[in-house]
Amino acid sequence: MAKHQTSFVCQSCGAVYNRWKGRCEACGGWNTVVEETGAAYPLAGPVATRPSRAKGRVFPLEGLAGATHEAPRTPSGLAEFDRVTGGGFVRGSVILIGGDPGIGKSTVLMQVSASLAKGGHRVVYISGEEAIAQVRLRAERLGLGDALVELAAETNVEDIVATLAQGKPPALAVIDSIQTMWTETVESAPGTVTQVRGSAQALIRFAKSCGTAVILVGHVTKDGQIAGPRVVEHMVDAVVSFEGDTGHHFRILRAVKNRFGPTDEIGVFEMTDHGLAEVPNPSELFLASRDHGTAGTAVFAGMEGTRPVLVEIQALVAPTSLGTPRRAVVGWDPSRLSMVLAVLEAHGGLKLGMHDVYLNVAGGLRISEPAADLAAAAALVSSLSGAPLPADTVYFGEVGLSGAIRPVAQTPARLKEAAKLGFPNAVAPNARGDKGERPIPGAASIGHIADLVAGIAAAARPRPMPLQRRREG
Ligand code: TYD
Ligand code: MG
Repeated sequence: MAKHQTSFVCQSCGAVYNRWKGRCEACGGWNTVVEETGAAYPLAGPVATRPSRAKGRVFPLEGLAGATHEAPRTPSGLAEFDRVTGGGFVRGSVILIGGDPGIGKSTVLMQVSASLAKGGHRVVYISGEEAIAQVRLRAERLGLGDALVELAAETNVEDIVATLAQGKPPALAVIDSIQTMWTETVESAPGTVTQVRGSAQALIRFAKSCGTAVILVGHVTKDGQIAGPRVVEHMVDAVVSFEGDTGHHFRILRAVKNRFGPTDEIGVFEMTDHGLAEVPNPSELFLASRDHGTAGTAVFAGMEGTRPVLVEIQALVAPTSLGTPRRAVVGWDPSRLSMVLAVLEAHGGLKLGMHDVYLNVAGGLRISEPAADLAAAAALVSSLSGAPLPADTVYFGEVGLSGAIRPVAQTPARLKEAAKLGFPNAVAPNARGDKGERPIPGAASIGHIADLVAGIAAAARPRPMPLQRRREG
């Protein structure tokens, strides 16, 4: 008889303890450790079943040079989705799609499934959360009611694997979601981290043996309370996050990990009444409702992977009414804002100690590039001085602690995108392009943060700065 083992597993990070703890020592989460019975580590299964041998088997070692085969890919037909996966689904690969509930994971996967099925491939969609009628309703709403996608509402992994393995293996199987799946090999309750890990492992083994591409859907809550797909991240070939907030209508698909492709590409979608529409030119969307002629906004020419994206950075600098001024930032790194403010004070001659500072990336995009420093600085100086920046100019460049503006990668691509969207002028370091040519006639090189402040202040001169007037009065 198998001995029933009891272990205490953190539902957030998967750490295993032999007694209950109020706080997980590995991830620091409170109340995340839950008692689970059954095999504590299904991962250890195959190793334990191997008969012990005195000597190991000798296998031949290979050289680095040799024949390689490009992984065969099946494009889904949704260009924005394929861009993120690196050109389509690789046979036998497993992709985890994470995202907040209600963001549109089921919607985009139904669209991908239908598109692939239209191309003549066998696609199976297993829903563990919704009844078949609900899935059908969504497909109808998306105008995909007639797509040849095979549906099931099932949660038992052994049954699912047996069904999928019957006949010709499907090109794609969608499991929505991994948190609802359970396997008989693990005794813990469904939804626990051990079940999630065991189920994912069974599905990954199926994908590798039959060559079916499998997509696992995973919910992530902000506080990580649900048995997290975090533990699954290490087991799958690609992790894709679906981002966006429900207040904005566009969604971004971003590869976090990809064994078969790039990780810095994004796919942009817009949520419409008929599902997610692809946005081939995101800059137009992000700049759509721009306020011309107001102080405190600068257009940043950024890069998302290989694609240039123009986005508006908004700043509000206002005298504080509190003892400690507020600094709030949405869509950008707060510590970079602190750094840019410090450089503006130290090398730009601005006094910001008595001002509240708010910074926002319009449209809800999240920027992680240091190249946004210069655009943020320009928006801040513009807001403080009350002088609007020229409406036809983009800004990009990294600000160093010395106040120097450092060149950033892919300057020509940024300038080209800006010119295409009606921004003939640019303020950037080394804006002449890599080979010395000037792609934009109005591109101005800038070397120091003081030059930026002086340039904006010069534009503000006809109208005295409201701040100065107040000080004089
Ligand atoms: P869904 O794909 O069910 O989210 P998830 O699987 O990530 O939990 O999407 C749910 C939201 O999307 C819901 O709030 C309604 C919205 N939606 C649309 O706006 N248009 C549509 O055509 C569809 C199908 C959904
Ligand atoms: Mg869903």
